[in-house]
Amino acid sequence: MKTEVSTSAGTHLLMGCGYTGARLARRLAARGPVLGLVRSEASAAALAAAGIPARALNLDRPGPFDPPGDLASVVYLAPPPSDGEGDPRLWRFLEALGPARPRALVYLSTTGVYGDTGGAAVDEAAPTAPGDARSRQRLQAEAQALRWCEAREARCVILRVAAIYGPHRLPLDRLRRGEPVLRAEDSGPGNRIHVDDLVAACLAALARPVAGVVNVADGCPEGMAAFTARVAALVGLPAPREVTWQEAQEALSPGLLAFLRESRRVLSPRLVRELGVTPRGPEAGIRDSLREMGLPASGG
Ligand SMILES: NC(=O)c1ccc[n+]([C@@H]2O[C@H](COP(=O)([O-])OP(=O)(O)OC[C@H]3O[C@@H](n4cnc5c(N)ncnc54)[C@H](OP(=O)(O)O)[C@@H]3O)[C@@H](O)[C@H]2O)c1
Repeated sequence: MKTEVSTSAGTHLLMGCGYTGARLARRLAARGPVLGLVRSEASAAALAAAGIPARALNLDRPGPFDPPGDLASVVYLAPPPSDGEGDPRLWRFLEALGPARPRALVYLSTTGVYGDTGGAAVDEAAPTAPGDARSRQRLQAEAQALRWCEAREARCVILRVAAIYGPHRLPLDRLRRGEPVLRAEDSGPGNRIHVDDLVAACLAALARPVAGVVNVADGCPEGMAAFTARVAALVGLPAPREVTWQEAQEALSPGLLAFLRESRRVLSPRLVRELGVTPRGPEAGIRDSLREMGLPASGG
């Protein structure tokens, strides 16, 4: 999909230039100046080695930072700290920008802010009801981003992102280790997005006059068992063993259990209509990911 971004617009700053950010940076760099910011010197060096201008800015202990004089936009992709209230990292970053006034701020939030709806559908108009501390932090961060933009007359786009998958982010290691999955009867729909569709959403959010909340999910919610079995079939591995919720407590990581505890069906009408991004479904997304990893997919 082609999404045009003005090249004469100045520097695009990507705070938290990790898995998604690096792919976005590569797309933006073809059109104009980009600066990726990361926590560690090692990540900054890896980006620089890949041709992406980058520097380290640890938002837990930020040193001096001079934003680019021609700052055009900011895409904020760093997660909040693992505990506490709100998002002090976002706050410190916005402070570090000083009087700089980007035309747009794109903040990557999560669909977790909708909480557990028992499998019911949520679009951008649905009420937020964060069910855990992390999602509450996210909601507070969204409000922080919106307030900051209002005061600067900058356009603010909040992308509420489902679970990100793509090349090197498939459950291949878990499949190879023979780890089980939560059986369908005990799990609700899981919402996902292929990383390149998320990148397309970020590019369109920069390029188009859109503001406010936009959900970013592929519209094909699928439980953990179904998605993992689909990956297994495409790479030619045995389907994983299915376990009950009780057995899963012992077998799965706390992060995965937190993801599985909540159930909702995320709709993304603004993504399609206003950002012009039609995300690929899981079958195509897994095939694309395997292709990029140089792994043949079964069945063509
Ligand atoms: N993964 C998912 O399924 C998912 C789902 C919904 C929303 N999201 C959110 O979407 C965003 C992008 O996700 P992703 O998976 O692409 O992220 P990622 O690969 O984990 O990258 C996170 C980036 O943030 C940087 N960072 C972390 N702590 C920092 C700090 N204290 N100071 C400065 N930078 C810091 C990291 O730098 P270093 O590399 O130097 O550590 C890295 O560049 C994140 O906010 C994530 O929480 C993710």
